[in-house]
Amino acid sequence: MKFFIDTANLAEIKEAYDLGILDGVTTNPSLMAKEGITGAENILNHYVAICNIVDGPVSAEVIATDFEGMVREGEQLAALHKNIVVKIPMILEGIKAIKYFASKGIRTNCTLIFSAGQALLAAKAGATYISPFLGRLDDVSTDGIQLIQQIRVIYDNYAFDTEILAASVRHPMHIIHCAEIGADVMTGPLSAIKALAKHPLTDLGLQQFLADYAKGNK
Ligand code: E4P
Repeated sequence: MKFFIDTANLAEIKEAYDLGILDGVTTNPSLMAKEGITGAENILNHYVAICNIVDGPVSAEVIATDFEGMVREGEQLAALHKNIVVKIPMILEGIKAIKYFASKGIRTNCTLIFSAGQALLAAKAGATYISPFLGRLDDVSTDGIQLIQQIRVIYDNYAFDTEILAASVRHPMHIIHCAEIGADVMTGPLSAIKALAKHPLTDLGLQQFLADYAKGNK
């Protein structure tokens, strides 16, 4: 399973990349705003800065909600760097834009997926990735993992190339469940990725090994 980080924070992206396990980055307009990145030019420059840290797909989201606007913005984003994946919202105009970008060889990530029907439609249009929002479904008492499982079955039935990018991941168990059911990619915060490494028995065991070494090597 590929690991993407879901942030626009350059320090966190660098920290995750330096771990050696980072495959890509996802951003969205809220994450850009959280970092105080505003204004068209600053936003475009920030995408380039992210691409210069990570050699892997970087999702950059369009703001337009009509076909022509999405095409215009998406082409501008894709021209920024070879790593850019154009992130398109799951609306009918977005489906048309995904089809258009697929015909031009421009990669897309269809975002805000909350149902299997939406995932099917995006795959038929030729999306490179679809992003089912796991955590946001869990937040409204709906099983996000079950949705990803359902999408996995549908994509496997018809050998769709579209990759399932489990998004809105909140904690390490989300990552583990995604890996169990065969999500292609997960995107989440650095805290969830780092939490995978934690186990109290590892800490205790290491403490003991170091103490025993110190005793024998005084
Ligand atoms: C997906 O690409 C989104 O950026 C993201 O995962 C949303 O996560 P959230 O529900 O934690 O905001």
